[in-house]
Amino acid sequence: MLTGKKVVVGISGGIAAYKAVEIVSRLKKAGAEVRVVMTRAATQFVTPLTFREISGNPVVCDMWQEPKEWNVEHIALANWADVFLIAPATANIIGKIASGIADEFLSTTVMATKAMVMLAPAMNSNMYINPIVTDNLLRLSKIGYQIIPPDSGMLACGVEGPGRLPEPETIVNTLVRILTRGSDLAGKKVLVTAAGTREPLDPVRYIGNRSSGKMGYALASAAANRGADVVMVSGPSNLPPPPGVVVKKVETAAEMRQAVLDEFGNADLVIKAAAVADYRPSIVSKQKIKKTDGKITLVLEKNPDILAELGERKVKQILVGFAAETEDLLTHATEKLNRKNLDMIVANDVTLPGAGFDSDTNIVRVLYQDGRIEELPQMSKDSLAGQLLDRITALMTNSN
Ligand code: C5P
Repeated sequence: MLTGKKVVVGISGGIAAYKAVEIVSRLKKAGAEVRVVMTRAATQFVTPLTFREISGNPVVCDMWQEPKEWNVEHIALANWADVFLIAPATANIIGKIASGIADEFLSTTVMATKAMVMLAPAMNSNMYINPIVTDNLLRLSKIGYQIIPPDSGMLACGVEGPGRLPEPETIVNTLVRILTRGSDLAGKKVLVTAAGTREPLDPVRYIGNRSSGKMGYALASAAANRGADVVMVSGPSNLPPPPGVVVKKVETAAEMRQAVLDEFGNADLVIKAAAVADYRPSIVSKQKIKKTDGKITLVLEKNPDILAELGERKVKQILVGFAAETEDLLTHATEKLNRKNLDMIVANDVTLPGAGFDSDTNIVRVLYQDGRIEELPQMSKDSLAGQLLDRITALMTNSN
């Protein structure tokens, strides 16, 4: 799977460094050429000798050590790498990379590389949820660093919570998935809905919602980059159409329903990220409604639930829905997952800062048919699109 790939594994000084031994071993078995860089603190947990034996290459721990080969120095290693994986990534190395500090070999090499950098944070829960660390991770995710979220569970320090390094198998699988993203949706037809609908009251007014379309546009763009034929049915949005995506613009829920049903038969995957109005005015006035002295009453009637309809019709399609909630997130999301016959639902509490409408970031939980619930940390909508597609492609592979 990784034949010909050059991977630099950076190891920083946390107890989870021992798991990096198995990560390097698995990368080698998958065919990668691996070079290990350790921070000084990491060498307190595992000896460089262990990594030298497993990787079959010299290990660099010191900026100033005498080079054994001319090319074992930070710029050469930075250029050599196809991908950098830092596992475990401590709060310290994350902070240094996010702040542009390059004061030892690992941070200096990362700063000099143009390769993709993946970070697998592992630390005590209180450190992990410290806003300084979460802000640093967010900042890095916004500029294209890939963050592999830690697991929750009992940590070495005796505390229970998020911060545990995922199992080496999970980390290596994630790395493989991200590296092979380029084409993992080739030949697949993907239908995405995005933005909110507008339900007219009269020629100048409508009932709408706060959806910006950012999440749906990020998903459509990410799916196209991974080789899919993407059609996006979008409500009004100021965002530019993503390159390589066929965009069908609609206004109302009824128009969105028709456009979605036209495409549904061809689709392998449908992602409904649009915020569809549940109700529309019963009467649409042909003329602008005039102001009067008294109150006016609007009568609304129910819109069709497009996704529920797709859930009834689905044959081969993988269906993914979104649930934007302001309370009882998991209860509502689970109910929608089941009622709409979805394979996966992405739930977010839109009252949280950094989540939901018009934000550049999102904080979601992913719920699956088999009852699994995954909590993802705050990240940019672009990074989230990639992470969601990783999970969706895994579902598509399993359903074949
Ligand atoms: O029921 P609720 O609107 O909260 O469900 C959200 C999910 O259902 C989203 O994926 C949304 O795109 C979809 N939906 C739909 N048609 C509607 C309402 C919501 O497809 N009328």
